Parts: sequence; structure tokens; C-alpha cells
Amino acid sequence: MHDFKYRDNELYCEGVRIEDLARKFSTPLYVYSSHTILDHFLKLKKAFATLKPLICFSVKSNSNLSVLRLLVKNGAGLDIVSGGELYRAKKVHAAPSRIVYASVGKSRQEIEESVKTGILFFNVESLQELSLISDVATALKKQARVCIRINPNIDPHTHRYITTGTVESKFGVDFDTARIIFLNRENFKNVQFLGLHVHIGSQITQVDPFLAALRRICRFIDELKRMGVCLEYLNIGGGLGIIYKEEKPQTAEEFAHRVVPVLKKTGLKIILEPGRFIVGNSGILVTQVRYIKETQAKRFIVVDAGMNDLVRPSLYGAYHEIQPLLKSVTCDKNILKKSDVVGPICESGDFLAKDRLIPWVDVGEYLAVMSAGAYGFSMSSNYNSRCRSAEVMVKGSKFYLIRERESFEDLVNKEKVTG
Ligand code: LLP
Repeated sequence: MHDFKYRDNELYCEGVRIEDLARKFSTPLYVYSSHTILDHFLKLKKAFATLKPLICFSVKSNSNLSVLRLLVKNGAGLDIVSGGELYRAKKVHAAPSRIVYASVGKSRQEIEESVKTGILFFNVESLQELSLISDVATALKKQARVCIRINPNIDPHTHRYITTGTVESKFGVDFDTARIIFLNRENFKNVQFLGLHVHIGSQITQVDPFLAALRRICRFIDELKRMGVCLEYLNIGGGLGIIYKEEKPQTAEEFAHRVVPVLKKTGLKIILEPGRFIVGNSGILVTQVRYIKETQAKRFIVVDAGMNDLVRPSLYGAYHEIQPLLKSVTCDKNILKKSDVVGPICESGDFLAKDRLIPWVDVGEYLAVMSAGAYGFSMSSNYNSRCRSAEVMVKGSKFYLIRERESFEDLVNKEKVTG
């Protein structure tokens, strides 16, 4: 599943002892395994081989340039959601013809830049956005290509903050609106309607919600055909779940086995937008224990990483396994005790684990917060004026600093003092 394994009780990433990285680069520190990233990408590619889909890695899940470059070099396209992500895509020389762009709030400037760049298509989320894309393309005397993002009203049974395909969510358009759009497609000058897009949510562990959504989409594709609308692409989004704790998510093969026959029938070119599946288990956050605090209620293990470094536990109540870099062999240390692993941020919501059974750890010891490769660094912030952490990429027995730790100067260098 991933390349973070113990050797003689010490945690390694591929061929590199992680404690060496922690000492060299200090903590908190994100460490990624390039082999795991590629392995997951290739697993998906292989599972879908008969369809030869374009796999557009979802940049929001991990937008480090080295991660993007690694995937692009190996044939991935990119799924972007902002002008900033387009900028990153260009920096890693992603072919514009392999970039797709979703987001409910694309600005005129972002649309202009994307049309000029010649991205493959926009995933359009509203009628107004479509009109704006049409205006921009006309003004630029260029063609804009679009897929209409359908909200199929399917509950993916995941956390409600990452559910995107039900009527309550802001994403996509319902079938009726999509029908109106296609009936009036001649009115949108300089817009080519290439296909449909659907993304119902993230960390979805069962295939059934995907299938339910796809069945509805396929019926709509047939209806469009009868209306004389011929499409070229079906973009099925991302959302594949991974193991954080005891989940039993579908594997790439199981997923493909069930959805490929449905997709084949459409005869359309298929696009996938995985993020978490590729990078989730490919990265960890290394942190050091600063204090141990016993109260009447429980034990607090105070570490140097906080919710500004990894917000998922605070924001979604997400579970991340926490393991010591050095596994203890003495029995007395292995007695488990209910603990909270907390950061230095001034909020009670700042925790990496709550009421977790954890063996004794000493001050100065290093811990690994597992499965932090997706929506980890990319959601980090400077809250409490904390410098964002460094990131390291491991390749075999080599490692590369792929983002320097921020400095105090970085924290203030855009600010001006007035008054
Ligand atoms: N495509 C679209 C249109 C998306 O909105 C997303 C994720 C993806 C693809 C990639 O989804 P994935 O394969 O990674 O599930 N911050 C949350 C997850 C937010 C997902 C947002 N959209 C978390 O930490 O769980």
C-alpha cells in the first residue's frame, strides 16, 4: 500500500531513515515517497487500461511542484481549480491539452488566462459561468471548450463537508438545467460543448454511489443523443477513498471492474480526476514531542505540528494513524494510554488525535502522522504566525528538499506598517 515501513524498529521511507530527515530538516516535516505516488498512479492507469483514460491528478490534494512534475512526466494530466493552480501547471510544463478546470467561482481573469492557454476544457458549474466563458472566448476571438458538471443528486456516504453531488451542495447543475443548456447551445458563441463532468464527493469507499451517479449520467447521455447532441468526453471526477484506519475501500481494480463496462457503453473518452488515491498514503507528517501533560482527565502529548500544518482532524474529525519513528522494544513503554495528541495552536480544536490509545512517548521523540499526503500541506496555513513546514521527497535511498521551511521574514514580507 505504501513505502513507509519499519526496519529494525525504525521507520523508513523507501531506503531513507526518516529520523535522519527529521534531524536534518527539523520538524514539522512532510515526507513523500515518490515510489508510492507513482505506484498508485500506475495502478489506476492499469486498472482502466482498456479505456485509455486521461488521468488528471487533482492539484488541490497536493500542489507541490515536484509532486506535479513527477506525475506529469509519467503521463498524468492535471485537474485545476484556480488561476494559482494553472500557474503551477504551467511551471511543471503540463500540456494544456491535458488540463481540466472545475470550480464554482472562476473569475473572468482566470477564465481569460485558461482560454489563452488553451486548456482541454472547463467543467462548467452554472449557467452564468457558461455565459461568462462565452463572452470571454468571443472577446478573445478564441474557442472555449466545456463539459457541463452534472449534480446527479446522489449521496456518496462520506463526510458532509466533502459531499458534492447532492441537491444541497453548490456544485454542478441539475439535469433540467443541463437540458436547457444543451437545447440552447447555439446561443453560447465560441463555446464547444465537449461532454459531461461528475464528481460526487471525496473519500468514497464503496463503488455503489459512483455507479448510481454514472447510471443517471448515462441515461442523460442517451437522451442528449436523441436530441442530436453528440459528446466526446465523460469526466468521472475523483473521490476514491483510501485507508486511514480500518476502511476497506475498493481497490483500483475492483472500482474499474464495476465502472468500466458502464463507461464503455458510452463510447466516450474518459477522464478521471483522482487526488487522494494517488497521494494520500504517499506522505506523512513528522512531528516532535515537546511536552507531556497529565491532567485529571487525560494525557496530552504536545507536539510541534498543529492544525495549521494538518487541519483534517480539526476540520473533519479525520483519523490519522500516529506512529513513533522509533518503535520501542521495552514492555513498559508499550502500555497504551488514552491520550490527545495536540499542537501548539491556541485553540481547543487544535489536535491531531483525540482519546487515542498511545504507548508511552518521551519528550524529544519523533512521531509520524500517517496518510498525510493528500490535503495536508496543501491546506496548511500560517495561523498563529507559524511558518509552514518543509517538504521532502524520497526516491529510493535519495531525498530532495522540495519546499523549504518558511522563515519569519516570509510571514511578513507582503505586509506594510502604517500609522
Ligand atoms: N475533482 C473535483 C472536481 C474535486 O472537487 C475533487 C476534490 C477531486 C476531483 C479530487 O478528489 P479526491 O480524488 O482527492 O477525493 N479537503 C478534503 C477533501 C476535499 C476534496 C475536494 N475536491 C479532505 O481533506 O478530506
